[in-house]
Amino acid sequence: MTSAAQLLAALRAHPEGVAGTDLCRQLGVTRAAVWSHIETLREGGFEIIASPHRGYQLVSAPSALLAVDLQSRQEKGQVVGNAIHVLAQTTSTNDEVSQAALENHPEGLVIFAESQSAGRGRMGRRWSSPTGRGLWFSILLRPSLAPSECTQLTAASANALVRAIQSITGITPEIKWPNDLLINGKKVAGILTEMSAELEHVRSVILGIGIDVNQTASEFPTDLRDIATSLKLATGKPISRADLAEMVLRELDREYARILAGDFTAVAEEWASHCSTLGKLATINMGTRHVRGRAEALDENGALLIRTEHGRIERIIGGEVTLTE
Ligand code: BTN
Repeated sequence: MTSAAQLLAALRAHPEGVAGTDLCRQLGVTRAAVWSHIETLREGGFEIIASPHRGYQLVSAPSALLAVDLQSRQEKGQVVGNAIHVLAQTTSTNDEVSQAALENHPEGLVIFAESQSAGRGRMGRRWSSPTGRGLWFSILLRPSLAPSECTQLTAASANALVRAIQSITGITPEIKWPNDLLINGKKVAGILTEMSAELEHVRSVILGIGIDVNQTASEFPTDLRDIATSLKLATGKPISRADLAEMVLRELDREYARILAGDFTAVAEEWASHCSTLGKLATINMGTRHVRGRAEALDENGALLIRTEHGRIERIIGGEVTLTE
């Protein structure tokens, strides 16, 4: 963590204020260095007051996402988010992370963008990413899993998003297989998992996550208004994107650790408890192929098991689900 991020973490840990000398001691830097970091943070939009009695006190944070802020919220030892960048604009954060993967960047990197000009969703769809309204970000992972096991990561990510949204808003979204999060039947978040692998070895997995946070209804493209929602629309109040990002990265880190520890059974159980697809009659469209039947469970790799009307079990790893009851 940089000194500026440590300083921010110290200010947040002491809402009543913290003396300059304590900050110097905690960070192992001079008074001049503390002062210079405080000035940089103020320029970034943090309101920090200084008084002889209370020392430095963090009064408010900017609404823009800042890497230093997100870094200061990381727990010690967290893999997901061990490096965090925030871009003002890009085509797609998945492209940014994929480039970093090619350059051999270690796992844990997270790149956020305030807006994306070519944000993409699953099945070749575009992903609307208006400036400053949501969380648009991608994570680089290098799991020691077989390529066929990587579907587990999508289920784990969906669990992490459910928990984070629940703890920030009090609302528990439901999961629509494979990776849509819905509130009152409308989509609020999605996950795009991209993998680079050889036959038996995964080089990298990129988890691209989009969460609609603070859009008003009119800020959604017209074709999405009936099927998408934001956390602000669902709760009736604006949500701090930094608070949500902190929680999402923490929960993703926990879920990733569960997957690496081989505990997919627990992940799948939690996933199933939030999933609105299981137990229902559904049609899965996979381009030209359609499978119809009852969605029964996730298998050990995260694939959906469908029992067809002929009693056969079909194993589905991707597609679009339509409920038929
Ligand atoms: C879906 O539900 O279809 C998946 C949507 C994933 C959107 C996110 S936004 C950040 C990252 N960058 C992209 O271009 N897509 C993902």
